[in-house]
Amino acid sequence: MSDLAHIPAPFRDDIDDVVLTAEQISDRLTELAAEVDRDYAGRELLIVGVLKGAIFVMSDLARRLHVPSSMDFMAVSSYGSATTSSGTVRILKDLDTDIEGQDVLLVEDIVDSGLTLDYLFKNLRSRKPASLEVLSLLTKPSRREVDLPLRYVGFEIPDVFVVGYGLDFAERYRGLSDIVSLKPGIYAS
Ligand code: PRP
Repeated sequence: MSDLAHIPAPFRDDIDDVVLTAEQISDRLTELAAEVDRDYAGRELLIVGVLKGAIFVMSDLARRLHVPSSMDFMAVSSYGSATTSSGTVRILKDLDTDIEGQDVLLVEDIVDSGLTLDYLFKNLRSRKPASLEVLSLLTKPSRREVDLPLRYVGFEIPDVFVVGYGLDFAERYRGLSDIVSLKPGIYAS
């Protein structure tokens, strides 16, 4: 059981445990950025963040990259209930730029069933980028429903409900620096 004293008081009682500390996340993103730098040496990269969860991954990754990069964002919404995805994705905010001929890195906070990313990957590939790869901070392989080409993965985690560092439950907890698990009573009530 982790020490939760540093978690802001309004959230502390909701939290079961710290799954990944801010330092672990930071160290892993430094490693991933170095991999991306190696793979894209001599090229320019367009990093595409999927709102809202990927905001901190985007900002922390972008500040660690040495290859020149520009940023764009998409916002999508899955139809269906909050806990199961139908796999049908609606684009709420599309890219500002034409990605044809560009090296694109799609950035996610978490891949769960994989249905959101499967849609996004196919959608972006149809726009004929020079290359298209995916970086996700977290993946839950045990929940996967479709096979996905994840080029860069921060951490594989078990099937626990996690929030923080961009991840929410009912829009709360995104601003926590750590990734934490919630007490079951909080999200299953
Ligand atoms: C989360 C996450 C992925 C998706 C993963 O987004 O950021 O986009 O769910 O789930 P899947 O692999 O089962 O499709 P969410 O819909 O919670 O929106 P948010 O990023 O705004 O929190």
